[in-house]
Amino acid sequence: MSTERRLRLPGLAYGGDYNPEQWPEEVWAEDMRLMREAGVTIVSVGIFSWALLEPAEGVYDFSRMDKILDLLHENGIAADLATPTASPPAWFFRAHPEALPVDRDGRRLSYGSRQTFCPSSPAYRTAALRIAGEIGRRYADHPALAMWHVHNEYGCHNAECHCDESAAAFRRWLRAKYAGDLDALNHAWGTTFWSQWYYDWDEIIPPRATGAAPNPTHQLDWRRFCSDELLSLFTAERDVLRRATPGIPATTNFMVNFSIEALDYWRWAPELDIVSNDHYLRSTDPESEIDVALCGDLVRSMAGGPWLLMEHSTGAVNWQPVNRAKRPGEMRRNALAHVARGADGIAFFQWRAAKAGAEQWHSSMLPHAGTDSQIWQDVVRLGADLEALAEVRGSTVAADVAFVWDWNARWAMELPSQPSSALRFTDLVRDWYSPLWRAGVAVDFVRPDTDLSPYRLVLAPSLYLIDDAGAANLTSFAERGGTLAVGFHSGAVDDNCHVRTGGYPGAFRDALGVRTDELFPLLPDETRQLTGQVPQDATATQWSERVRLTSAEAIASYVDGSLAGVPAVTRNAHGTGTAWYLATRPDPDTLAALIARIRDEAGVRPVLGTLPDGIEAVRRSGTDADYLFLIDHSGAGADLPAHGVELLTGKPVHGSVVLPAGGAAVVRETHRSQSAQAGTTTPAGSGNR
Ligand code: GLA
Repeated sequence: MSTERRLRLPGLAYGGDYNPEQWPEEVWAEDMRLMREAGVTIVSVGIFSWALLEPAEGVYDFSRMDKILDLLHENGIAADLATPTASPPAWFFRAHPEALPVDRDGRRLSYGSRQTFCPSSPAYRTAALRIAGEIGRRYADHPALAMWHVHNEYGCHNAECHCDESAAAFRRWLRAKYAGDLDALNHAWGTTFWSQWYYDWDEIIPPRATGAAPNPTHQLDWRRFCSDELLSLFTAERDVLRRATPGIPATTNFMVNFSIEALDYWRWAPELDIVSNDHYLRSTDPESEIDVALCGDLVRSMAGGPWLLMEHSTGAVNWQPVNRAKRPGEMRRNALAHVARGADGIAFFQWRAAKAGAEQWHSSMLPHAGTDSQIWQDVVRLGADLEALAEVRGSTVAADVAFVWDWNARWAMELPSQPSSALRFTDLVRDWYSPLWRAGVAVDFVRPDTDLSPYRLVLAPSLYLIDDAGAANLTSFAERGGTLAVGFHSGAVDDNCHVRTGGYPGAFRDALGVRTDELFPLLPDETRQLTGQVPQDATATQWSERVRLTSAEAIASYVDGSLAGVPAVTRNAHGTGTAWYLATRPDPDTLAALIARIRDEAGVRPVLGTLPDGIEAVRRSGTDADYLFLIDHSGAGADLPAHGVELLTGKPVHGSVVLPAGGAAVVRETHRSQSAQAGTTTPAGSGNR
């Protein structure tokens, strides 16, 4: 994060997307009054206002935006001013029909929703940079301007386009990557297979719909290209804005928990002055609080410190099959959990619920029902909570555990023609993350090549693809005394997606002290019994492989099936450290027991002794104080050991804090050594929330 270009607001930011252009001006005064009542400090404006700002090419109407920004400033509310480039107007597409995207089946999409443009379209780029420049210059000195909101959720609806302009851009990207050497590309892609050898760059096209399985490396390079192509749009807009306003920070909102996961955010994050994220619950996730935490840790890790939650919802969204409203207190718990994971600001989509348009059934801060509503009460309360937590701003989370997260590994493992099509990178990460969340163990996410020296334990639940440097970094971490745990089907291919021969798990074989000669993925309804140093009734699903020990010891083995007696979990002394291999997918209790043992042996301590079920515990550390965040997702509440001042109530805490049922407590710690050493905690029974 740039130190020079930062958000200059006191305390924690609070707000949401504000779309006053959807309402008559009479409503705006009420918006201002209610924003002040709720404690709103910043709003994102203009995100989808291109059609109003530029009614015809090169013709601008800033009258409405001028008034909105003036009004915000008069009311002491900062503007996170957007470039409206996520939604080009209809006139643009009539003039440039070639800028509409083409899907992999060759179907050209129509305008009429949003973000329906080809990322490689020169006409789009010209138009986007033009409007961004106009906005940048016009509002450079506006006193409300605090931050640039570039575009909106890059790639949300147009992560890839298969048109001819995209094909040409893909070829340019490939020429640069392979330094103009077509033979190098042919070797990297393995095009001797199925007669795919290319003799001319112009023969290369995007991985469009074809008869049989496409080439894996072709698809992987395509994903890398698509991410870079959108990133180049971001940096181009950012640079236009920087020229106009060198001191104003620019962000764009990531969306790390959406399933499309089109972008390699490790490459994006360093380009942002402030990293921000959007997070939405999935109605079908019974423990969505774990997803909130996982995504928060991931975003904090990418930001290298505090970040902003740019969007979440007060209640239901409108884009899932059934859109669940939040449970009592859930919105507050979500928001405070994001703060606990390092967010220095909390915002929603959106301020006022829309009457018309595609998102008329999406919740908001000010619902259709108006202020006589639970949501409004909760919004006002959250504003007060964030004010009470102002001093946590700038503090961050220190972790002993690193999770390896790599988009290349994810993309590659989820390509077609794998041993099993059931493997999902995020499921495997979530499997391993959940027991650490339950135990209250702080976690960072890292790239395979991150300096691992600050950590005691490195977990790589799913690392199908790994380049040589990443593999060396991870294995030498164990060799030098660290503890490394690796999940099944890892180390299998190099960064060109070529299999590492000589036995699986390729790159990690020697460090793990095992050698696998054949994979035995399990069918969806198949389960295997495990025996050894695992709980009674331990089982595993999804994956098995014929592991032979070369230097490792077996921790668990299969009881049944064709691999009966074969090791399923192993532990190896590697250098002065330890390397574990989980060669299957254990049931949750077994995995929790294994992870507890691994972290124990690695000397990793939880934030707060043993936690009751459903209590989230995180510590943010600042220069002057530490802040212990406790959130009850169980509905039972708890008495938990702490010393200091509980900031949400302002009450002193001497030895124990009451965590109300479904509520939260944030303790500014004065005796950290005592609370960190505290033992088992006790449920508090009915809470007093
Ligand atoms: C995304 C977008 C918003 C809105 C919300 C709805 O996060 O950025 O404009 O569409 O989804 O959940």
